[in-house]
Amino acid sequence: MRRVLIATSNPGKLRDFAGAAAVHGIEIDGIPNFSSLPLVVEDGHTFEENARKKAEEYSRYVPGEIVVADDSGLEVDALNGAPGVHSARYAADEPHLADANTDDEANNARVLRELKSIPPAKRTGRFVCVLAAARNGKTLATFRGVAEGVILDAPRGTNGFGYDPLFYFPQIRKTFAELSAEEKSKYSHRGAAFRQFLDWCEKRISENAI
Ligand code: IMP
Repeated sequence: MRRVLIATSNPGKLRDFAGAAAVHGIEIDGIPNFSSLPLVVEDGHTFEENARKKAEEYSRYVPGEIVVADDSGLEVDALNGAPGVHSARYAADEPHLADANTDDEANNARVLRELKSIPPAKRTGRFVCVLAAARNGKTLATFRGVAEGVILDAPRGTNGFGYDPLFYFPQIRKTFAELSAEEKSKYSHRGAAFRQFLDWCEKRISENAI
């Protein structure tokens, strides 16, 4: 079984990835001692820049291993793509300068405030996830997953995290916070990006290319 290491300290993300990968004959693990490694500063202007930076820097600690890192967030059309790469710290006074994440409730409150006068038809947006796979400090490939939806004017549902309660997914007439973890991975940006990665991995393994 080919082993892939995920650069995350989030056990939820690790579990999601491991569940999807098992059927592809790929073993998912965390990077050993991940929490004691120096944090990579996510100062890129795009999800791709941040994902590549994290995958490349963390892969140097585990020579020869394939390391996967992700960066994700919410893009709202009426806010010109904000919160975007600043999704995790949108409630800060100056999100692009903040070095700590702000809490989900405050981030959601800011999105609702900014969209106050925007009618339903113009409240379109998307979750985006970019995954980067790297080895020995070099990116091998990147994968982008997107989920298109509408931002509600009040939260709905209690599952999930982040902006899930505000993100209405028309295809199944539910917010992401009204889905189980299994359902969410079927429709989510992260699930879509990870399935692309798994297809790529499987193909490269069969060609003996990784
Ligand atoms: P990161 O990729 O872990 O840095 O996530 C960035 C931020 O984007 C999170 O803190 C959330 O605010 C938001 N976000 C990313 N993916 C999701 C999701 O699946 N649901 C809700 N919020 C998300």
